[in-house]
Amino acid sequence: MEFNKLITTRRSIRGFTDEMIPIEVLKRIFEQTRLSPTWANKQGVKYVLVSDPSKIEIIREASEQEWTKSANVFVVVCIDPKDSGKNHDGLQYFPVDAAICLTQLIYSATNEGLGTVWMGWFKEEPIKKALNIPKETRIIGMTPLGYPKYKPKEQKRKDLQDFVFGDDYGKVWKGLR
Ligand SMILES: Cc1cc2nc3c(=O)[nH]c(=O)nc-3n(C[C@H](O)[C@H](O)[C@H](O)COP(=O)(O)O)c2cc1C
Repeated sequence: MEFNKLITTRRSIRGFTDEMIPIEVLKRIFEQTRLSPTWANKQGVKYVLVSDPSKIEIIREASEQEWTKSANVFVVVCIDPKDSGKNHDGLQYFPVDAAICLTQLIYSATNEGLGTVWMGWFKEEPIKKALNIPKETRIIGMTPLGYPKYKPKEQKRKDLQDFVFGDDYGKVWKGLR
């Protein structure tokens, strides 16, 4: 898909058909996801592909989101904080690494015609237990993967003037005046 089309048409999808995703498609998505930038190129982000219905049921319960029933595959994105870094003020970058990787995965999946949604609302512990994720490793987000069952509506976005500033925070950048 052409880049401009990819970035302007991606939408969160919360309903999927039963069509299976070919293994080759999934492999291509992970080949592209591994090109994501990470702190010092540490590549600490791990992905658990979940297709076992009993484990998907645990994801549904832990996320308290009924629409998750319609997905046959989820990717759970996690990282051990020690596999990333922090800046000189102590700001931890492990959630950033994982968020960049999940977002790159989402665009790669969109390019393959798949529907996705960035998921951040879930209880972490039951999912960690079900997937045998190590104690220190944190789940940062997840997405279902599947062929969309419907055409999503466009979501409203703020005007550039509301958040792009020039030289001073709050001062509209001259390119927009
Ligand atoms: C960090 C993060 C967490 C999110 N968590 C959820 C979630 O748990 N469930 C959900 O349905 N959507 C979730 N979303 C999706 C947003 O609601 C969605 O991206 C936003 O409404 C814009 O819509 P669009 O993705 O269709 O452009 C999340 C998005 C982000 C970036």
